[in-house]
Amino acid sequence: MAKPRRNQSAKHTTLEQTIRKATRQALHDIGESTPEAAWVGNKVQWPVTCTVGPGLEGAIACESSVGYVNGARGNLIYRGYDVVELCESSTFEEVAFLLLYGDLPTRREFESFNQRLVQYRFLPHTLRMMMSSPLEQMHPMAALRLGTILLRQRLSWRDQDAGEPEESEAIAADEDTVPSEESEQQGESRAEYQFRLWPADKPQNVRKSADNSAGIQTCLRLISGIATLTAAIARIRNEKLPIDPDPSLGYAANLLYMMHGIRPSPEEARILDIALILHADHGMNASTFAAMVVASTMADIYASVTAGIGALSGPLHGGANEAVIEQLQAIGDPSNVKAWVVKTLRNKQKVMGFGHRVYKAYDPRARILGPLAKHLSGHPSIAGMYQTATTLEKEVVAALGRKKAIFPNVDFYSGLVYQALGIPLPMFTPIFAVSRMAGWTARVFEYLKNNRIFRPRAIYTGPMDLAYVPMNQRNETGENT
Ligand code: SDX
Repeated sequence: MAKPRRNQSAKHTTLEQTIRKATRQALHDIGESTPEAAWVGNKVQWPVTCTVGPGLEGAIACESSVGYVNGARGNLIYRGYDVVELCESSTFEEVAFLLLYGDLPTRREFESFNQRLVQYRFLPHTLRMMMSSPLEQMHPMAALRLGTILLRQRLSWRDQDAGEPEESEAIAADEDTVPSEESEQQGESRAEYQFRLWPADKPQNVRKSADNSAGIQTCLRLISGIATLTAAIARIRNEKLPIDPDPSLGYAANLLYMMHGIRPSPEEARILDIALILHADHGMNASTFAAMVVASTMADIYASVTAGIGALSGPLHGGANEAVIEQLQAIGDPSNVKAWVVKTLRNKQKVMGFGHRVYKAYDPRARILGPLAKHLSGHPSIAGMYQTATTLEKEVVAALGRKKAIFPNVDFYSGLVYQALGIPLPMFTPIFAVSRMAGWTARVFEYLKNNRIFRPRAIYTGPMDLAYVPMNQRNETGENT
């Protein structure tokens, strides 16, 4: 990964200054939170009424305290914290804890959580199984779905999270007891059982815990493991062997290390860490909803997050960041932008990286990713493209901003950042999936606590009361003879 040459105009602006300036500006532009924050903690009185359009636009599917997207103001909250502030002060690991557990960790909680994440990075068996498939011929998101399912197979040989003791309080269920006034085993009430998958005649509660794969430890295994899978897929596509994780590196640094085989600079790691924070959760987007629908049937969480990976692979959702780079390369010089925009809109084509079902203001994530792309714009792999991007932003916002509330979304600048970090284009969306695994698992884990299978309705617009006509009485035009 070539070292980025500092952009001349930014040479005296350190990364932390860039981040601080971007977060201050973003918080200023987004403005103060409005009274709806007072809604927090109120009990939702179901059923609720809402106006629903095609594609479930406007439909309220559930209640959640994981995250909140305010489309009118353009702000994004994770468990009450503004994502812009988390970018400046937190890390992806801490944000994953916040999304899963509901608040920021104490130091002890974080150390125990992070120790698990590091432990779960190592997937030698799963990688070996995944590498028996022709990954280099597969779309990387298909390979990621395969790897995630194999992750489940590896763990389905034994019960996992439900029986996975926290080291600090693990008490074997068959510990000896001491002859004292107690007849019960000392640790029985807090005993954690390690079960192998047993024949069906085991008591139901044992089988239930054996099948319960939506426990918090599985969420951690997925959040950690998907980074290892993604890096391995990138290397295999590049005809290289996977690299073992480095337990001494942070999550983002380790991901870049496993992908490139060299340890990233602290600046590169920090930039990816911020990008992972920004992509971690985003309300009931298509991939999160897909994961929750599958989970609501009590399918295991591996099936549900692979549904999320599948949904995210679509170019209208996660695949847009790749399409943005291809779009900028097609436009070429900034002087071509104006004519390109006129032609694209005249042909009723979409400009990739713009528009959003929810945001009718600037996507707050673009408010951070844009300055990061600028900070990296001296990098040879994106030199020139950044100028084209900013010119394109001006032209599209001038044409569609006020008229249709169309502004840059998260995908518009993320591709430039990833390109400058040496992440191959086809791996942009898998990186999105790495981050979004935190949101998928947090929302699945939350929803399963009050699970209700998703079952929306359709308006039937077909015919009624038709009489069956045998095949020999139907003429070729389909009319009945
Ligand atoms: C993500 O849901 C999430 O939260 C998703 C996400 C997340 O974090 O999970 O935020 C991530 O998916 C970001 C979006 C990435 N996709 C793209 O950048 C692809 C380009 N964007 C569009 O496809 C579109 O804006 C969507 C899909 C994102 C949203 O589409 P909607 O809300 O269904 O809007 P629409 O397609 O009904 O368009 C409404 C109007 C149309 O014009 P009219 O027919 O009314 O004249 O706006 C126009 C559209 O033509 N329009 C665009 C446009 N997006 C909408 N015109 C040009 N370029 C665009 N990008």
